[in-house]
Amino acid sequence: MVAMKAVFLAPSYPPEMQQYTRGLAEVGAEVYGVGDAPAQALPGSLKQHLHDYLQVPRLLDEADVIERVAAWLRGREVDRVLANWEVMVVTAARLRERFGVPGMSVGSVIGFRDKQVMKERVAAAGLRVPRARRVRTIAETRAAAADIGFPLIVKPIAGAGSADTYRADDAAALDTVLGRMHHVTEASCEEFVEGDEYTFDTVCIAGTPAFENVAQYLPRPLDARSHEWISPVIITVRDLDQPGLAAGIALGRRVLGALGMGDGFTHMEWYRKPADRGGEVVFGEIGCRPGGAHLVDQMNYTCDIDLFREWARTVCWGKFEAPTVRKYNAAIIFKRARGNGRITRIDGLREFLHRHGEHVVEQRLLPPGSPRRDWKRTLVSDGYLLLRHPDWDRTYQLAMEAATDITMWAE
Ligand SMILES: Nc1ncnc2c1ncn2[C@@H]1O[C@H](COP(=O)(O)OP(=O)(O)OP(=O)(O)O)[C@@H](O)[C@H]1O
Ligand SMILES: [Mg+2]
Repeated sequence: MVAMKAVFLAPSYPPEMQQYTRGLAEVGAEVYGVGDAPAQALPGSLKQHLHDYLQVPRLLDEADVIERVAAWLRGREVDRVLANWEVMVVTAARLRERFGVPGMSVGSVIGFRDKQVMKERVAAAGLRVPRARRVRTIAETRAAAADIGFPLIVKPIAGAGSADTYRADDAAALDTVLGRMHHVTEASCEEFVEGDEYTFDTVCIAGTPAFENVAQYLPRPLDARSHEWISPVIITVRDLDQPGLAAGIALGRRVLGALGMGDGFTHMEWYRKPADRGGEVVFGEIGCRPGGAHLVDQMNYTCDIDLFREWARTVCWGKFEAPTVRKYNAAIIFKRARGNGRITRIDGLREFLHRHGEHVVEQRLLPPGSPRRDWKRTLVSDGYLLLRHPDWDRTYQLAMEAATDITMWAE
């Protein structure tokens, strides 16, 4: 086999990046990792897959990272520069341009990173996006609201995890929202799209999906982020051929073309309006990287495959070799403990596992004694349960049962 030298940015964090590093090594790449953790602190399970590693002081300081990587690689040719973490995708593209390495250009990657540019490019392809304006001041936001109408949503241009994202139903509510957003320098003011919210995920080869996935958010992420008592659920849909998804999948494929997708993962979010309002599908947002919060694990459980490795095969060799037959709907149920401090007990878990254990594929609730996580900062919250079943209604029922019957307590 020809040597394949792949620079992979942020190989140890977020934790699933270690799985992509493994995937790269398993398909025969020499992996050159670049991260801010000291080499000695990397787990052995990761180190064994790294050919070499560069520690940089500040991973988010793009210019500094580029200079250090260039100095480190001087005299060595690399074949790929890759990143699967949202905040690193532009840096990877800049490095590719600097080294003349194949892959998506900075210009294309920006279309996946800047929410306003993204919507403009998707709209220019004739696809339905929420009416939106980029706003920088209170006056601009009020003017945009007058144009767009209520209800609307205000959110940071480069947001993540629904942080600083607010719905406003009238001018008074908008004033309250503006009062909370002083620290946000640039925002998007958008028409609020009612309806169901889904993902459209792919692993692409030259912009064409070799693998596709749809998952439904239950409830919509903004609602899940607004109420601590909710146990957010996400379910991958086994049957992608059902009529209700056709328009969303068609939209997703056309978005890839509109944005000039190349090789690798994409994670898109889209809305479907209620049937009594025509069931119209509307683009939400897209990234040229995988979904977080264990979505890739869910997709793996859906088909019994290893997308960490298939992604690597795709970006290194232009081939996707795993079966794409969908066997299950895979549901993840995130739990948030009641009370603050440390987890003291978990009610209903033993009974749930006794009743439905055969469908549960992972149980990762924080054990008693662990400190609670900040549910506003991590969707994973105080842990999760992952289960799967071939029948959608049954999967949905099981997920809702886990959401309501299992309770974590903290004090
Ligand atoms: N125009 C809109 N209409 C209705 N809901 C919206 C709209 N824009 C955002 N939302 C809601 O807010 C959530 C967060 O918005 P968005 O996905 O754009 O930002 P994000 O912070 O990048 O999200 P995340 O990182 O959680 O995927 C969406 O999942 C959706 O529930
Ligand atoms: Mg989102």
